[in-house]
Amino acid sequence: MSDVHVKFNLANDNEGLEDDEIFLPPAPLLAGAHVSGLQSYHEIYANSINNSDEFWKTVASELHFEQGSSKGLEWNFDAKKGDIYCKFMDGAKTNISYNCLERNLKRGLGNKIAYIFEGNEPSDSSTITYSELHAQVVQFSAVLRSHGVKRGDVVALYLPMIPELAVAMLACARIGAMHSVVFAGFSAESLSARIVDAQCKVLVTADGMFRGQKSINLKTIANSAVKLAKSENVEVSSLIMVEHLKRVTVPEGSSLPKIDSTEIDAIYENEMEKCRNVESEVEWMDAESPLFLLYTSGSTGKPKGIQHTTAGYMTYAFATTKYTFDAQPDDIYWCTADCGWITGHTYLLYGPLLNGLQGIWFEGVPSYPNASRFWDVTDKYGVTKLYTSPTAARALMAMGDEFLAGTSRATLKVIGTVGEPINPAAWLWLYKKVGNSNVSIVDTYWQTETGGHMITCLPGATPMKPGAASMPMFGASPVLLDSEGRVIEGPGEGNLCFDRAWPGMMRGVFGDYERFVKTYFAPFGGYYFTGDGARRDEDGYLWITGRVDDLMNVSGHLLSTAEIESALVAHEKVAEAAVVAAPHDIKGSFPYAFVTLNVGERINPQLIAELKKMVREKIGALAVPDIIQEAPGLPKTRSGKVTRRILRKIAEGTESGIGDTTTLVDESVIKQLISGRSARA
Ligand code: WT7
Repeated sequence: MSDVHVKFNLANDNEGLEDDEIFLPPAPLLAGAHVSGLQSYHEIYANSINNSDEFWKTVASELHFEQGSSKGLEWNFDAKKGDIYCKFMDGAKTNISYNCLERNLKRGLGNKIAYIFEGNEPSDSSTITYSELHAQVVQFSAVLRSHGVKRGDVVALYLPMIPELAVAMLACARIGAMHSVVFAGFSAESLSARIVDAQCKVLVTADGMFRGQKSINLKTIANSAVKLAKSENVEVSSLIMVEHLKRVTVPEGSSLPKIDSTEIDAIYENEMEKCRNVESEVEWMDAESPLFLLYTSGSTGKPKGIQHTTAGYMTYAFATTKYTFDAQPDDIYWCTADCGWITGHTYLLYGPLLNGLQGIWFEGVPSYPNASRFWDVTDKYGVTKLYTSPTAARALMAMGDEFLAGTSRATLKVIGTVGEPINPAAWLWLYKKVGNSNVSIVDTYWQTETGGHMITCLPGATPMKPGAASMPMFGASPVLLDSEGRVIEGPGEGNLCFDRAWPGMMRGVFGDYERFVKTYFAPFGGYYFTGDGARRDEDGYLWITGRVDDLMNVSGHLLSTAEIESALVAHEKVAEAAVVAAPHDIKGSFPYAFVTLNVGERINPQLIAELKKMVREKIGALAVPDIIQEAPGLPKTRSGKVTRRILRKIAEGTESGIGDTTTLVDESVIKQLISGRSARA
């Protein structure tokens, strides 16, 4: 897959699309929708802005608060006026885990299936009801307590997409501990950096997992992470391991990895057994108590621990799931995301459970055992709402429509996408081929930091334009600012900001208030800055144009160019490195690295392999550059700043549009880089 690239350009990939073609929500979706028709959307939206406290408190009134509050949203986005903050229902007490579980049991949903677990192998599936999930969560919360976890502690979770991950997240929330889920594709160094940053004492992992046919030995990675953390004076005292491999079907041609034990090990199943009948009460949390940390890439290289809190995040996850997917009691809702990302947190775990939905929790990958997997699962369970990524859509589309044959997908009503802009060709494929032209597509724009959807269509309300994120979510108030910070009214393009708080927004960067302000509020005083650019068209639709900072979006995951660069320069033969995003047919973009080697060194296949390994070990496989090109020098301004704009052009393969190069120290570097493009090893 890594060799297909530099073909599509999001801006003009309009294949098969009439100019300005607009698609209307299917009529059956309008009837009975929570928001039916565009006019209704506009009315509710206006109310959510003009009477915001009343709007949000009406939403929150569907949830359980042990103690209420007269307060609504309070915030300050202007550092000149004092500290940046946001609060929602300050003084109230609640618990999100209680709202996901006990509240649903009280509503008579105890016997409803909360999740169907679909394993890596199609033959491995199971179900769990709301009351079974509740029982396991209570039990595991007792286990955590028996390992000394208290309110306010941070617990690291490094797990495959297995039931125990849902249980562990909800168990943390039940006792007021923050979970910090680390995607099971991250390396030992990445895991350890997150453990150290939040001083985690307990790490929950599994023996291993299969992704397609590939086995991944999570325990070995966890062991190394614990050792690395110790070298930084953070001592993990309990390593709780789920014995997942014992129960899975081993894919043909694969074998089980060997699992090494350490003296801090505890086996999940044994611990659960010990706590079988132990009482473990809900902690009533303050509205603004921290709920979880989730690390995301930062421009400076060091990942940021994005901090979300209780009442606001809960209310926003509940409302956005309800409206964006038009959640209905008989839905079979499938979000294909991994819980290692915010999409898994908000739209696989919390949002669906708060809405009492039946969800599907998927351990596998779209291409295994073959590229029909998504559609087989859709038919097998009768999925009504599917939430996935443009990358998955493009990869499946590229495999050919024969993989759709033999499945009907007739139950689908809504298909959502997230993580990156969707090009019209992939949008049309989802709409026409997957959805039989009988679905609403919701292209949801949001971020780890926003907690939930900010810009999206609503399935029973918004006429759809392929490739447009479209309209603001209730309570979200986007503005476009030019580079001087002036508001762009009407049609135009600019920096995407929000001028008011919403309940689900991040409350800080863990342990780093300065960075919180500097990243999100300093660029445009008085506004939350997303780091993205956007365009507003004549109809008021918003189109996301992509990152305007040094982050790149690969398969819907944000990566920091600085973080990859520092992994590359850690190699003894590398003097300097610059990484840029280059367009990719499937992944949207891929990391393209330019490396300047020490005198006397030349690039060769072995060195490239070593450099790739370096990035894999320091960050994870998802950050490995597809192309590493030797650069005799990097284009730099007189003040020593690398001009990425030029490198991006070279990586794209376009020589035109490189623009003015007279400010560079050494213009001849560019010619060398262009000719080196074809000579890269
Ligand atoms: C960045 C946030 C939000 C969950 C997954 C990613 C990009 C996200 C869209 C979309 C265009 C999008 C933005 C954003 N992005 N959704 N629908 N259209 N771009 O979370 O890792 O925090 O990344 O993903 O660049 O800032 P994340």
